[in-house]
Amino acid sequence: MSTKSAAQWLVGHNKFEQTKTESKGKKLFGKAKTISITSGKGGVGKTSVTLKLAKILSQQGFKTLVIDCDFNLSNTAVKLGLPITDNFYSLISARKPFEECIVEHDGFFLLSGCNGNMDLFDDQTGIERFIIDILVTHEKEFDYILLDSPAGIAKENLTLNAYSDHRFVVVTPDLSSITDSYSLIKILSTKYGVSENHLIVNKISTSNQLDRIIKTLGETVDNFLNSRLRILGGLVKKDISIDKFDKALLSEENSALHKNFLKVVELFAEENVATTLPISGHGHEVQQLNVC
Ligand SMILES: Nc1ncnc2c1ncn2[C@@H]1O[C@H](COP(=O)(O)OP(=O)(O)O)[C@@H](O)[C@H]1O
Ligand SMILES: [Mg+2]
Repeated sequence: MSTKSAAQWLVGHNKFEQTKTESKGKKLFGKAKTISITSGKGGVGKTSVTLKLAKILSQQGFKTLVIDCDFNLSNTAVKLGLPITDNFYSLISARKPFEECIVEHDGFFLLSGCNGNMDLFDDQTGIERFIIDILVTHEKEFDYILLDSPAGIAKENLTLNAYSDHRFVVVTPDLSSITDSYSLIKILSTKYGVSENHLIVNKISTSNQLDRIIKTLGETVDNFLNSRLRILGGLVKKDISIDKFDKALLSEENSALHKNFLKVVELFAEENVATTLPISGHGHEVQQLNVC
């Protein structure tokens, strides 16, 4: 499929109506940068990307919090080999203070997700409100807050994605992953006024594959949406059994995949140099997000 016809196909397959745009962007200075790691389709690597970025950022001296927002399929704790807790439930039901609900692991902090306590949320009190509340209350305590999002275009996810300072959209070479992410970017643009997203292409096998996806998706977003897609690069598909992947991802510091992640952080840093101010009360020296 040529890039042009692929672009038309993407647009043709998109099911959302254009609606009046409404800006929900926020600009903060001297507070944590919030980044939603998101996608149209599940299983593309959002949780893996979130945890690896959290580890790298914390190694670079940034105080980083991961919030597991995957309301139904929370698995950050499992991937880190931590026990499953009801910390999230305890926090939002005010049974425990925030400090007792986050766990420190590998240098970063984690608020793990719900595990079967969804009865707490109804249509009026969406879970996204609780998470935004947590962000508002604690954003001064961290340099980065990474939201491991659920896949797709549910209202909760869209609201959190739109509220975040940045969105890292993760896609894989699978065509349905690309079309679903285009749908996500489109609805974020048309309904929530989000004008910029970042792209990470995961599980790539060849650089040609990466180039093709960047060109197709990038040009389609450029040409058809009032939105910009900033490219953070590709992550190689690791040829390793599923049960060994999580550990290898987080422990290896010399692999091609690790270098891919460093490049992602470096590219993001280049865009954001001088936008990170020292935050008081961290007990550590805050530096620019610049790995060079
Ligand atoms: N770069 C990669 N190479 C090989 N396997 C990967 C890679 N990234 C993720 N995976 C695997 O893909 C699956 C889905 O990853 P996960 O991070 O749970 O996705 P999501 O959070 O988007 O559902 C997991 O089995 C994970 O081990
Ligand atoms: Mg996940």
